[in-house]
Amino acid sequence: MDISTIILAGGKSKRMGQDKALIKINNIPLLKHICSEAQKLTSQVYIITSWPEKYQPILPDNCTLIKETTLAGPLIAFSEALRQITTEWVLLLACDLGNFNSEELAQFAHQLGELNSDYIAYLPLNPKGFEPLCGFYRRNCLPLLDDFINQGGNSFQKWLNQHKIAELPLTNREILVNCNNPQDLQLINNFQPQITKDGSFTFFSPEFNESFHSHYGAKQEALYKFVIPCKLPELATQTNSIKLLDICYGLGYNTAAALATIWQINPQCHIELMALELNENVPNQAIKSNLLNEWNEPIPELLSQLSTDKYLKNELISAHIFYGDARVTIQEIINRNFIADAIFLDPFSPPKCPQLWTVDFLKLVTKCINLNGILATYSCAASVRTALQLTGLKIGASASVGRRSPGTIASYNNPNLPPLSLQELEHLQTKASIPYRDIQLINTAEKILAKRLQEQSTSTLESTSQWKKRWEKPAICKKE
Ligand SMILES: C[S@@+](CC[C@H](N)C(=O)[O-])C[C@H]1O[C@@H](n2cnc3c(N)ncnc32)[C@H](O)[C@@H]1O
Repeated sequence: MDISTIILAGGKSKRMGQDKALIKINNIPLLKHICSEAQKLTSQVYIITSWPEKYQPILPDNCTLIKETTLAGPLIAFSEALRQITTEWVLLLACDLGNFNSEELAQFAHQLGELNSDYIAYLPLNPKGFEPLCGFYRRNCLPLLDDFINQGGNSFQKWLNQHKIAELPLTNREILVNCNNPQDLQLINNFQPQITKDGSFTFFSPEFNESFHSHYGAKQEALYKFVIPCKLPELATQTNSIKLLDICYGLGYNTAAALATIWQINPQCHIELMALELNENVPNQAIKSNLLNEWNEPIPELLSQLSTDKYLKNELISAHIFYGDARVTIQEIINRNFIADAIFLDPFSPPKCPQLWTVDFLKLVTKCINLNGILATYSCAASVRTALQLTGLKIGASASVGRRSPGTIASYNNPNLPPLSLQELEHLQTKASIPYRDIQLINTAEKILAKRLQEQSTSTLESTSQWKKRWEKPAICKKE
């Protein structure tokens, strides 16, 4: 069906302290982002505003600016713009929907033709009423709107209450979040759910300039890079008690996948979990965005409790999460003599977060693993593998799933580590294998990177590019 969009961009942005339409989210002005998303769904995009000249330079091609003449609020601006619309339905959007994406609304746009003709709009519902500025309206609601305005009305809610509105059953309510003030902006900028190829969502970190998961699939990554390589399915058949250490807990996916796997195989298994995470906003935002609902209850409920109370105990699980720099909080785990059967090591990539890939940090981590326990990580960087070997662990490769590179698993004594290929072994003889170091565990990323670069510059090891040339398909590790 042919639909148009109207974007209301007349607000004064008082609480934001700067023009909301122009603030950048993931480096793109918010109004431009909303226009581009709307263009994916609708044939024409109109922006109604009092200052068209200000927005003209940032708009995508083929958007039409309408100069707002009345300056009398959103309802009246909507009626002004609606006069220009020729399509039967129009999508009305606020210009401050920081998480807006058209994909979420696409399925509902296809349903418009099936709505009874007495519905004037198709809008999401919240506990206070309908959400007027992120949904669809019939163009022929204009006379009703004019009547209301002519009688002195200017409230969307009051107008909508007089008419039949169909409820649009949004699944991802994040797209409704308004970016009203600098705090909202920070939250949105930090953690905007982004879909990955298996349909599960991840976040993007502007601070580390990296996604929290592989774009091939966040949920898949948790299972195939962490839970299965740690052999938790086998362990769950052998014991009624499993201890897990989740380093860089993030959204909680690795833990969630582990709990689901273990309890599916052995519903009686008691799990003791220790988790380390820098930023408590990450798990809290994941819960608020319902991202843990990828797993069945009781997992989302348990992990919601863990992320807010930092502690959880019932007959099946006892868990702690420690917020702060893992280089510090790992000491809590050591002090408690916690010895894990499985460790998930999941920091951002070594070039972005070298602090958590150093020999010095990993030496502390490996104090917390039992002799047959397995540490799993998605990284196959030669520097990481060498650092793990320097801690005394033996290493093996985990299967490549989704992306080209395999991950790494490591253990003191577990006999079941799949061996590295010759190509991978030779990688460990190149300059890429020089590990990151941070003896006092206090250095910045920049210092750790610079120190390693310097060590590489004086090393007599083979250059990594020569090693790559020697192998026909140099596909081992993108990040090194
Ligand atoms: C790749 S993400 C982890 C994804 C996570 N395992 C999951 O399943 O959702 C990396 C995480 O490391 C955290 N992080 C970054 N630096 C850290 C540090 N110094 N100590 C602890 N956590 C850190 C980030 O906040 C982020 O949540």
